[in-house]
Amino acid sequence: MSDGADHDERKRQLERERQAFRASPSYDPSPAKFREQHPEDQFTGSSGVLFEQAMAQTRMAICLCDPHLEDMPIVFANRAFRELTGYPEDEIIGRNCRFLQGPETDRSQVAKLRNAIREEDVTVVELLNYRRDGSTFWNALHVGPIYNERGQLLYFFGSQWDVSDVRAARAEELYARDMARELSHRMKNMFSVISGIVNITGRMRGVESEAQEINERVQALGRAYETTLDEASSGTIEVGQSIRAVLEPYDLGPWKLNFRGDPLKVPYGVVSGLGLTLHELAANATNYGAWSSEDGEVCVDWAEKTRDGRRVLEVVWAEMGGPAVSEPPSEKGSGNAIIDRMVRYGGGNIEREWLEQGLRVCATYPLENGSFS
Ligand SMILES: Cc1cc2nc3c(=O)[nH]c(=O)nc-3n(C[C@H](O)[C@H](O)[C@H](O)COP(=O)(O)O)c2cc1C
Repeated sequence: MSDGADHDERKRQLERERQAFRASPSYDPSPAKFREQHPEDQFTGSSGVLFEQAMAQTRMAICLCDPHLEDMPIVFANRAFRELTGYPEDEIIGRNCRFLQGPETDRSQVAKLRNAIREEDVTVVELLNYRRDGSTFWNALHVGPIYNERGQLLYFFGSQWDVSDVRAARAEELYARDMARELSHRMKNMFSVISGIVNITGRMRGVESEAQEINERVQALGRAYETTLDEASSGTIEVGQSIRAVLEPYDLGPWKLNFRGDPLKVPYGVVSGLGLTLHELAANATNYGAWSSEDGEVCVDWAEKTRDGRRVLEVVWAEMGGPAVSEPPSEKGSGNAIIDRMVRYGGGNIEREWLEQGLRVCATYPLENGSFS
């Protein structure tokens, strides 16, 4: 076949494809109509076919406005634009896009658009628009100039995207965050009021050191819950954050305290038992254990495990490098008694081993069907 015959065959093939495209039920005739009415523009040849097919197929609402006509009216709007706004073509063409605005449309966004258009800048705004039936939608609007190859301004291009759902989700998230912040604020207040009461009562009764001990426990509990700021609405808490917060005041520098655990969400209530356990262990480590000597260190491990067919949080506290350890006298200090009672009351378990290298404590907290979970 000669080059000429080859070219004719390609043209016929293109025409057949165009006919088939136009015959499909979802075909939007407005881009083709616009091309036919504007043969002087750049919408000829293959770029014209591309324009026609892209405009007809995209789900993004698109319009073109002519800056050479009085009040820059819309000269083209695709099907998605008509579906989004609810207006038929003959009520769109020839009007300035501001007919989509209404009483609640933010005038500062409109001014931003007006300035950008005057400067021939590309701009994106989010503004409230009104459909033909009066209902509203949030329009993420992109407007920009289109030039020909000689750099002359031909049209303004606008694409409209309904972001109402995205905005609603964003508003909900913001509300949840505000609530969580308020909750956390109240909780901190509550813990400081409790501390105040304990201090005053301790002073009045002449038992300051006991009051101080109780206060430290109350504060450890407060820190354990502080991390719930963003999580209050989910009912769970990231246990690693909570563990770190409780032990923060005891972190005496690099290598003194090591954490090993995976990101793990646990029920809110688990935190009380866990927070108090870690506080008592840390206080003991400071007074008699690993942290009472210069080289001592503590490693805290946590993981989800299955014990007797139940999901549990297992926390292992391992001390190393401290003074020689031996099993303490059988009478337990009040700290240990509190831990044991808290853990068992929550349906968990705690075991202590006095190993050569230091104390090792393994505590489990049920993640389901426990008093705290
Ligand atoms: C291509 C193009 C698309 C536009 N699309 C919208 C639109 O979807 N919604 C809207 O409220 N305004 C839209 N506008 C903005 C208005 O047409 C107008 O420029 C704006 O209201 C500022 O001018 P005014 O102060 O004279 O009303 C568009 C403007 C252009 C040039």
